[in-house]
Amino acid sequence: MHVIEIDDPADPRLADYTRLRDVNLRRHLEAEHGLFMAEGEKVIRRAAAAGYAPRSLLLTRRRAEVLADLDVDAPLYLVEEETAERLVGFDLHRGALAAFHRGPLPSLDEVLAGARGIVVLEDLVDHTNVGAIFRSAAGLGVDAVVLAPRCADPLYRRSVKVSMGAVFTLPYTRLDDWYGGLDELREAGFHLMALTPGEDSRPLREAMSAVDPDTGVGLLLGTEGDGLSARWLERADTRVHIPMSGRDVDSLNVTAAAAIACYELTHRGGAGVRVHRGGT
Ligand SMILES: C[S@@+](CC[C@H](N)C(=O)[O-])C[C@H]1O[C@@H](n2cnc3c(N)ncnc32)[C@H](O)[C@@H]1O
Repeated sequence: MHVIEIDDPADPRLADYTRLRDVNLRRHLEAEHGLFMAEGEKVIRRAAAAGYAPRSLLLTRRRAEVLADLDVDAPLYLVEEETAERLVGFDLHRGALAAFHRGPLPSLDEVLAGARGIVVLEDLVDHTNVGAIFRSAAGLGVDAVVLAPRCADPLYRRSVKVSMGAVFTLPYTRLDDWYGGLDELREAGFHLMALTPGEDSRPLREAMSAVDPDTGVGLLLGTEGDGLSARWLERADTRVHIPMSGRDVDSLNVTAAAAIACYELTHRGGAGVRVHRGGT
């Protein structure tokens, strides 16, 4: 790493790190420049270990040593805490940041090859939820994640952080076609289960045990407010619910529903979780 000390938060070399809390600005900037941000020493190491190439790293002078052993070909910008705060918009006194290049997403065929259990996210809007679902899916042994075209970005800083780096190791891609996307998954051999707290659905565990153990299963999860669209509910093979107590709560947070459903999926037929190499 090539260490460069910078004092001016307006230095153009620091442009990747501008106003990290400004979601609209960042969405635009990151998409346009093909980058994503990783925050914290562990997550930065995991992104690098997963093969993502860093554009640069940013550390405060007091924390200059934390990534000294990282063998990457990128500049390391060292700044005072005050400069970092003015630049990124929050106190970075314990943190480390890095800007990485995004890679192209794999094709749907590549992501589904050999997969038995997948999670399919429709139009989730909250990056924290997306990150948490990746973490649960990876931790519980799901093989891949497929996103609807409008689902929030797993490589957004908040998703990356909450996933603890699972977005780097769990294969995922995005459907090009929201309308016909589920048919592509079905043609690839997946039995599609729409997770919905609504009536007219079967209890999840009962529905899971009715699926042939050799058949791949896709768990469809809907947006935080309205849930799955009518189109996806209609195109699923089964509608399933996680039974609720009826005590003034009519649905779970989507991350809680995802974790329960991932567990049921990877333990169907009494199976234990499949252990993958590496881990997050
Ligand atoms: C907050 S819920 C949306 C609630 C919405 N009113 C609905 O009827 O779907 C977000 C997502 O979490 C999942 N979910 C939440 N509670 C569930 C339950 N009890 N059974 C199955 N899925 C559930 C569904 O996939 C849902 O689309």
